[in-house]
Amino acid sequence: MREPHTVTVLGAGTMGAGIAQACASGGHAVTVVDRQPEALERCGATIDASLERLLRKGSIATEAATATRERVRTSTDLAAALDGTDVVIEAVYEDLAVKQDLWRAVDEHSRPDALLATNTSSLSVTEIAQVLRHPERFCGLHFFNPVPVLPLVEVVRAEHTSATTLDEAVAFVSGIGKTPIVCGDTPGFIVNRLLIPYVNDAIHALGEGVARAVDIDTAMKLGANLPMGPLALADLIGLDVTLAVIESLHRETADPRFRPAPRLRQLVRAGKLGRKSGEGFHRYE
Ligand code: 3HC
Repeated sequence: MREPHTVTVLGAGTMGAGIAQACASGGHAVTVVDRQPEALERCGATIDASLERLLRKGSIATEAATATRERVRTSTDLAAALDGTDVVIEAVYEDLAVKQDLWRAVDEHSRPDALLATNTSSLSVTEIAQVLRHPERFCGLHFFNPVPVLPLVEVVRAEHTSATTLDEAVAFVSGIGKTPIVCGDTPGFIVNRLLIPYVNDAIHALGEGVARAVDIDTAMKLGANLPMGPLALADLIGLDVTLAVIESLHRETADPRFRPAPRLRQLVRAGKLGRKSGEGFHRYE
């Protein structure tokens, strides 16, 4: 693939915005595609706020921030955005049917040699790829929230992913200054396999009356030296995403260790999804 690439990011949510920013700061020309113009507007505002924060902290120079912002465009026209694009990264809602429908459309409009990747956190990459004509060009690129800050990207080798595709994906991730770790297409990959059961267990502990939410979080911050407590982390990840990951681990392994905490399900049903909805285990301005 020629450098710099043109990258199309599908989905303008928290992860889509972060991935677009990371790719643009790595020098690539990025188009974020979403059906909803309001989501695209929010995506632009999220990137502005993140760049502002990096500028304030002196982690990025003004020229680099301006150049990054200028490399990000938005569009509601999928076919036009995919025309000639080198890399496609999908970060839409965690629903197999939604993702497969979108990938069918991508397959129709993208170049046969484009690098294709999903940022799924809870679905099988191999299963998403079932709808593709060239599943050997498909892999998982799993970023972590907040994407502008966290250096890891899990590069997921699905059943049909070719060695060339994997090499290109690893090179792409290194090229945007992130650290790639290759892993197999198993539920939760590495990080979510270990992190989400811990978060889920904290929600069980809350339900059992072990302590108040604020005290569980403070205890894990001060007693285990973690940057944030598990319930605040669930709020950051999104309670819907947290539930989707723990449900997938439970479904795929039938292991009772991964039983979703009832309180997590209740909050998701109530539309309390964490930071993005203004309330989860904690309240946000
Ligand atoms: N954009 C740019 N910079 C940001 C940012 C953003 N969105 N969010 C935080 N930062 C920067 C801050 O400017 C600050 O920079 P500095 O180190 O140069 O001072 C640094 O990150 C730390 O931020 P704060 O000083 O505000 O301190 P916080 O305690 O609020 O840190 C945090 C925030 C980075 C979120 C930190 O608490 C953390 O790392 N928490 C754990 C996050 C984590 O585990 N994420 C993984 C979730 S799992 C996942 O995403 C996978 C999915 O599939 C579920």
